Amino acid sequence: MRFAAIADIHGNHAALQAVLEDIAALGIRDIVNLGDCFSGPLEAGHTADLLLLLDMNAVQTVRGNHDRYLLETPPEAMGRSDAHAHGQLAPRHFEWLRKLPTSMVWREDVFLCHATPSKDDVYWLDKVSGEGNVVLRPQAEIESFAEGVEQSLILCAHSHLPRVVSLSDGRMIVNPGSVGCPAYHDDEPVPHDVETGHPLASYVVLEKAERGWTPQFRTVAYDHMAVSRLAADNGRADWAAAIATGRMG
Ligand SMILES: [Fe+2]
Repeated sequence: MRFAAIADIHGNHAALQAVLEDIAALGIRDIVNLGDCFSGPLEAGHTADLLLLLDMNAVQTVRGNHDRYLLETPPEAMGRSDAHAHGQLAPRHFEWLRKLPTSMVWREDVFLCHATPSKDDVYWLDKVSGEGNVVLRPQAEIESFAEGVEQSLILCAHSHLPRVVSLSDGRMIVNPGSVGCPAYHDDEPVPHDVETGHPLASYVVLEKAERGWTPQFRTVAYDHMAVSRLAADNGRADWAAAIATGRMG
């Protein structure tokens, strides 16, 4: 079994297209998407049209926290990134979002969720220290979130940081990283920056062989400076810097 996992596209249509081309060039047809599809000052509408097309071709998507905010938060109360995406989405896009599961078992052996099985807004593999440093979460905490999940491969996203963690019983948890947003700032639980340090689009190819699952983390170049300029034109210097460099400045 060999397939690709993508996540945290955040309305970056150009990055998504580049990743899809890379996946196709590898001869891979099966794709799962771990959510946070649209939020951001970019091209939510075009991204949504592409994802609906992929959905028709059996790409499985689970819903992220920002996908949920787009459905649940009144537009006037939304953050700027969600509000920008909300303004670009059509009724058919919201209808698609509403039908997405928050987690699911895919092909019997793979568990999909955006963040953890029970919460869509908690980093599973990473932890924010009191000083705002993002570090590997202690093993016991990672294992406790995995209680009750029986699949040998667990996929999560949300932190935008590519990572693989092995559990003591042999299960594996993989975060593919972010297709469209290589750095960001968040104020919860304490103010912190997440930074990959590069502008490339990230995703992962997963292959199950005799010895178990092997994640192959991939990065793909695209015209990130054009997307950075779009973010700047839309009044978001923070996003422009993040997409240009993978750092917050
Ligand atoms: Fe998220």
